[in-house]
Amino acid sequence: MKTAIIGAGNMGGSIARGLAKGTIIPANDIIVSNPTQSKLDVLKAEFPALQTTRDNQEAVTGAELIILAVKPWLMKSVVSELKLKSKQILISVAAGIPFEELAHYVADKEMTMFRLIPNTAISEMESMTLISSRNASKEQEQLLLDIFNQMGLAMLIPEEKIAAATAMTSCGIAYVLKYIQAAMQAGIEMGIYPKDGMRMIAQSVKGAAELILNNDTHPSVEIDKVCTPGGITIKGINELEHRGFSSAIINAIKASK
Ligand SMILES: NC(=O)c1ccc[n+]([C@@H]2O[C@H](COP(=O)([O-])OP(=O)(O)OC[C@H]3O[C@@H](n4cnc5c(N)ncnc54)[C@H](OP(=O)(O)O)[C@@H]3O)[C@@H](O)[C@H]2O)c1
Repeated sequence: MKTAIIGAGNMGGSIARGLAKGTIIPANDIIVSNPTQSKLDVLKAEFPALQTTRDNQEAVTGAELIILAVKPWLMKSVVSELKLKSKQILISVAAGIPFEELAHYVADKEMTMFRLIPNTAISEMESMTLISSRNASKEQEQLLLDIFNQMGLAMLIPEEKIAAATAMTSCGIAYVLKYIQAAMQAGIEMGIYPKDGMRMIAQSVKGAAELILNNDTHPSVEIDKVCTPGGITIKGINELEHRGFSSAIINAIKASK
């Protein structure tokens, strides 16, 4: 399935790498387009089978899937210049550009479109990827889920929930990193070297996530297991609540919507 990726930046480059490592689209079916040649050269050096070009139209001609990974403010000019066929599937990674607006940039307003919001962990094949569809068949939706489930976890949601879910996932990854940073600071004060602390906390966060993702459980259940009555963990948990930890997270995510 020929797939064009327009833009080889953080997102486009990570998606190209993820696709090339995956099993659904062979690397020689992927063509990446970008103005700066050096970004294409880096990709080509990593995946020699992958095709590259500086001509967006060359990339999309004959492609079944077209992934748009340019900055939101460039989307209008980039998409409007493309000669697209109705049967092609347009996939936009641009945050904040609704289907309604994207449809203005293409000749066939009814063409199949997807909006895709990965987070930066896509470079580790551990993205939480949000997907919304417009005029797509169940098979097309499943194809997108299959592709992006190979790069972490993908979930299909209605477009009106994208902003809220983006705050929780794309922005949310920064809040988790902020927790790691703060916990490292505590460790340093208590004599733990920053590099050691960083690995300790990162593995603890990864472990917490695995507990939730791999089991039919809930954060409260897992927290209860750690909180012995009269023990040290409940002292810390209560301190977090006295300091407004839950409120701070709720407000941060709502502020990012
Ligand atoms: N970063 C995130 O966490 C995140 C999450 C979800 C969605 N997104 C979305 O992903 C999109 C890309 O973001 P990014 O972080 O990957 O930005 P980025 O690193 O700046 O990448 C954008 C790429 O687009 C290329 N480009 C510029 N003009 C172009 C044109 N006319 N034709 C083809 N390519 C062109 C740029 O190339 P040059 O450098 O050569 O100019 C650059 O490589 C944005 O719309 C953003 O909203 C980002």
